[in-house]
Amino acid sequence: MAKRERWGTRIGLILAMAGNAVGLGNFLRFPVQAAQNGGGAFMIPYFVAFLLLGIPLMWVEWAIGRYGGKFGHGSAPGMFDAMWKAPISKYLGALGLFISTVIMVYYTYIESWTLAFSFFSITKAYFGETTFDAMRSFLQSYQGIEKKYFQSILPAYFFMCVTLFINFFILYRGISRGIEMLAKIAMPTLFLFAIILVIRVVTLGTPDPVNHPDWNVESGFAFIWNPDFSKLGDAKIWLAAAGQIFFTLSVGMGTLQAYASYLRESDDIALSGLSTASTNEFVEVILGASIAIPVAAAFFGIETTQEIAKGGAFNLGFVSMPIIFQKLPFGEFFGFLWFLLLFFAGITSSVAMAQPLIAFLKEEFGISHGRATALIGFSVFVAIQFVVFFLKHGFLDEMDYWAGTF
Ligand code: PFF
Repeated sequence: MAKRERWGTRIGLILAMAGNAVGLGNFLRFPVQAAQNGGGAFMIPYFVAFLLLGIPLMWVEWAIGRYGGKFGHGSAPGMFDAMWKAPISKYLGALGLFISTVIMVYYTYIESWTLAFSFFSITKAYFGETTFDAMRSFLQSYQGIEKKYFQSILPAYFFMCVTLFINFFILYRGISRGIEMLAKIAMPTLFLFAIILVIRVVTLGTPDPVNHPDWNVESGFAFIWNPDFSKLGDAKIWLAAAGQIFFTLSVGMGTLQAYASYLRESDDIALSGLSTASTNEFVEVILGASIAIPVAAAFFGIETTQEIAKGGAFNLGFVSMPIIFQKLPFGEFFGFLWFLLLFFAGITSSVAMAQPLIAFLKEEFGISHGRATALIGFSVFVAIQFVVFFLKHGFLDEMDYWAGTF
């Protein structure tokens, strides 16, 4: 058996694992979930799920991955087979491969929007579109749903191709020269950008004291953190909280196991697993909660912010934020930081989603690394056409439902 790849350094491993967990979920999905499900009250089931499900599963997945790696398996079918000698175990494992792959197909498409919008910010392409309707229409034109601002879907298609290319180029370079190197650059940059944005948000105060004295950042924080206890008895918020924990920590996806399979047998998993989980929570609860919602409260007031949150994560990230950037001095620069931050968060997660499949082809079918990467890259490229061209028919939501919720 060929010698398996290994992580180069411990810090590189932890950054890569944290990169896997920290994603669009932390900056877009979390604030919307919190805002929709009782604000501060959401945080109670959220922390319960983190302690009772998140941390234990994180350790279990690291342990399964390290164990599977010992037998040369980096994906769930092989790992399950190594642990449980029953014919069905392989097939159960194959289900694990399916989920991360389906998520990857739509997730990389959204990730490509963030790259495009960082470009549109720095070039001020959407500047002048200062209302919700106009900005929504800008986003929809970009997505090819209408034709007002873009004549065709070509720009979106171009950014999709660039994003896929970068993803698979990194995957082609392998574990330590590809994924680990990416994490070592992208994660510190992401922290820096997020901290700059948080400082900008908390120093906003009351942007328009004459006309809207009660529209301020504090009210935004209060909106997220003040508990609405009447919602605690509602099973829906417990489900939403558990769902967010799974999504944000990347547990139950097979990607943490894949990464852990490149550990050495003697490598620690208790502390490293805990560092990964706590880094993700810091980025989510401290940084993720302090940007998009509080800034919306300062510029639009609480009522509108509630409406925005109800409209979902894209509404918050790609409609409300660009309007705000136009109101800030150097807004093009902050917009650029925000969307590039999302891109870095996204790409360190999307490479993780492809890794189990690549390992699967290499290890279980003896295909070379280059060929396996090219094959998966090509398959994702084919599958993503459906998301790009059938977006208006709800294809993205359909995939999110089957892979994420179901
Ligand atoms: N944890 C990532 C996020 O919060 O955006 C999403 C994710 C990563 C989902 C890896 C699935 C996965 F396999």
